[in-house]
Amino acid sequence: METMAFRVNGRGMEARVGPRTTLLQVLRDQMRLTGTKNGCGAGRCGACTVIVAGEAVRSCVYLARRARGQEVQTIEGLAVDGRLHPLQKAFIEHGAVQCGFCTPGMIMAAKALLDKNPRPTRQDIFEALELNLCRCTGYVKIIEAVEAAGREREGESKEADLRLVAYRPQEPVWQAPIENQKSKIENYLIGSLLPRPDARVKVTGEARFAADLHFDSMLFGRVLRSAHPHARVLGVDTARAKALPGVAAVLTAADVPGARNHGLVRPDWPVLAYDKVRYMGDAVALVAAEDEETAAKALGLIGVQYEPLPGVFSPQEALEPGAPQLHEGGNLLKHIRIKKGNLEEGFRAADLVIEREYRTPFVEHAFLEPEAGVAVVDGEGNVTVYVGSQIPFADQRQVAEALGLPLRKVRIVQTPVGGAFGGKEDISVQIHVALLAWHTRRPVKLVLSREESILTHPKRHASIIRLKTGVTKEGRLTALQATIWGDSGAYASLGEHVMTRTATHMAGPYEIANVKVDCYAAYTNNTPAGAMRGFGVPQAAFVMESQMDILARELGLDPLDLRRRNALRVGSVTATGQVLRESVGLVETIDRVAQELRAERAPTAGGSALPPNRRRGWGVACCFKNVGLGGGMPDSAGATVELGGDGSAVVSIGAAEVGQGLVGIAAQIAAQELGLRYDQVRLVIGDTGRTLDGGATTASRQTFVTGNAVRLAARKLRETLALVVGDALRAEPAALKFQNGLVLTPTGASLPLTQVADLAKRRGLLLAASHVYTPPPTVPLGKDGDAHFAYGYATQAALVEVDTGTGEVQVLKVIAAHDVGRAINPLAIEGQLAGGVMMGLGYALMEELQIEKGITKNASFARYKLPRIRQAPEVMPILVEDPTQEGPYGAKGLGEITSIPTAPAIANAIYDAIGYRAYSLPARPERIMAYLGRGLRDRQ
Ligand code: FES
Ligand code: FES
Repeated sequence: METMAFRVNGRGMEARVGPRTTLLQVLRDQMRLTGTKNGCGAGRCGACTVIVAGEAVRSCVYLARRARGQEVQTIEGLAVDGRLHPLQKAFIEHGAVQCGFCTPGMIMAAKALLDKNPRPTRQDIFEALELNLCRCTGYVKIIEAVEAAGREREGESKEADLRLVAYRPQEPVWQAPIENQKSKIENYLIGSLLPRPDARVKVTGEARFAADLHFDSMLFGRVLRSAHPHARVLGVDTARAKALPGVAAVLTAADVPGARNHGLVRPDWPVLAYDKVRYMGDAVALVAAEDEETAAKALGLIGVQYEPLPGVFSPQEALEPGAPQLHEGGNLLKHIRIKKGNLEEGFRAADLVIEREYRTPFVEHAFLEPEAGVAVVDGEGNVTVYVGSQIPFADQRQVAEALGLPLRKVRIVQTPVGGAFGGKEDISVQIHVALLAWHTRRPVKLVLSREESILTHPKRHASIIRLKTGVTKEGRLTALQATIWGDSGAYASLGEHVMTRTATHMAGPYEIANVKVDCYAAYTNNTPAGAMRGFGVPQAAFVMESQMDILARELGLDPLDLRRRNALRVGSVTATGQVLRESVGLVETIDRVAQELRAERAPTAGGSALPPNRRRGWGVACCFKNVGLGGGMPDSAGATVELGGDGSAVVSIGAAEVGQGLVGIAAQIAAQELGLRYDQVRLVIGDTGRTLDGGATTASRQTFVTGNAVRLAARKLRETLALVVGDALRAEPAALKFQNGLVLTPTGASLPLTQVADLAKRRGLLLAASHVYTPPPTVPLGKDGDAHFAYGYATQAALVEVDTGTGEVQVLKVIAAHDVGRAINPLAIEGQLAGGVMMGLGYALMEELQIEKGITKNASFARYKLPRIRQAPEVMPILVEDPTQEGPYGAKGLGEITSIPTAPAIANAIYDAIGYRAYSLPARPERIMAYLGRGLRDRQ
């Protein structure tokens, strides 16, 4: 080790560096400049980008010694005296920040570009940000923000860039009175384009993710994973590892004081393997050591004796008689059945019957922040776990059970979540880090490597789906039969619920009188499968919408017309027997897309001809997606709203913010109800010690349930305040208006909220109110009633260009029409839409986690292909508002549905362009080339 002098953000610094020390290690570990993130540690994601001597570098693979004597700029150095850099401002104002984990690296890469070239072309931006991944935004807003910052630096009018004022909906619905709620209030904020309240700390690098936390005397944890996909564990020898200087603890299953298994639905997943390992990600032992190197070394000193067992690696294989069994109850996790009408009659009534088989792959969430947690045990034996999780209260239960502690002794504090998309619902590090802290009585940090993250957490299910559909020549669907096999991997996770959604959404957003679906979710020795954005519906939508395209072509009908004829409407009955009573905006989404397509396809004068190796095509797809857990499951969420003496409010919610923008929705709703400015609301989120349970951040439910909890808690508080003002100003409480920090009477008298708070306090009134919102009841599959309390609906159209020489597909444009019920914040919705579309694009064209015989072949960002900035299509958002009676101001959630129709729309567009029908996702170039080569041979 040697001492190195260099400058960081304009200040002279010294660091201790060895021959392999990276600049990222120096910045994060020695200087605690944790704004620079570690997303992959291998130079593949750009989260660690900083500027050295004017050049953007990936500091995770940049040897620290190269920075000797140089000027290093990090995100912490960008804002001067609290004044944000134009890029930071533009990222906030254009909605280019969601989870924020990629943001510092993205901004630094963009800064290096703008410093040299303030007016970059799109191509320049693509090149400068090519190595920076963002999984949330779809890059669209990032491109806009970089262009806007360039213009501002050049001194051009900033007003021209501000979409916060430029956005105008087609119909003036945003400022309409809120009529669908039981008590009317005047709207002044709902529908406004507002930046996220947490955007500022994310663009400055101040946001502290779990891996950024540091405690005195903190230890570092590591996990020993299985060496086999299926094996009996005969013994674990920890003696050599324990003897290594610097090792504080080595734990095995024998050290788990409480429940040996965890699980959100079924407790079948061992905390540490005690009898068998069932997949390569199984944890066998834990280490805590003084530093990360010692912890890693200790892992290599643990001896595990295995007896390898034969494995099963596909759901069909798993259900064969005589297949090796993973669990005592057998390999069938769940057989889900749906039956409606009379299938035989339905097929008899059809003029055309089509039957096809489709396959979808395992998909990796690829959130940019790998799983991380820090656990601390206090002198009274209370355990606090700091972790970026989707379900803090489920974490609390599972940690308490594993440690054998009462619930009150365990607290989960949610740190900012660097993307989740369903992949942070299950336990990852929470129990392990808590166990290590419990045994050592010292704070412990555990951060998974990117490879470990990909290897261990549950994936989107790989599936095989056989679909048979009958249709009349007029285009009326008469019957649908599906058999679905879902690969649920080694443990239950949320597999049975996910595959239930595949089954319940198999018939698409169409009314079909006769339906039969059999869905088998099976255990295999692959990585577990569970929740991922869309929760089983992307598989169903790809299959059904591909089939609809085939039917339309066979019948000679316009694909949107066929969909329109069968579309769910108010009064329709779904495949599960639910009668839809309101808020079914599907037909409008179809019509709006049809209208745009007509404009797109209208001949233009002097239209440019494509080169001979390029073909273009359009494809469309529709979908619906449940909002909320439904199926009779508890779906409540709580919130507390408190008014401070300064007239500002604190909103406490137990639901997790995972980048989707719940913090903004909660702040906006509280501000709307109390007549505050948006920036007068502060948030406390996901802390089991301070907030009410918000349930899982899943199923696109939080805008609806937590949104309503905030709305109703704020209304309770408002009623208390109205009584105080009514007495003080001799006015009818119900006639008072809350706006801009004032309470106004109809005669024009007013009191500022600061004074109202003071008056209320003097009367001994509590300036806080809580509400636990419970949505309308739902019923389990097979029972009469509503399976879900609301659904979102969407239609998307994609334009693709296929290079027939390489098989590469470029998606040029996506028109995305979504029924959102009510657009509370269109800026946030646009961001969700662009991000969802990009994830759907990845599903269509490149994403596939390759697991062969239980071994993951592409567990890195180098080998797992993700969409990058160059692939970002133009996204045209169309927001349809068909409000729900019950949702806050009529809103429904849309986190997942944004992604669902994209893959089938792209697959159908590829068919339109070159006649290739993708029966397996992704439609990779080699598959397209194999088809084109065969097509060529067939033609010869
Ligand atoms: Fe350096 Fe990913 S953390 S490129
Ligand atoms: Fe870019 Fe989340 S905002 S990864």
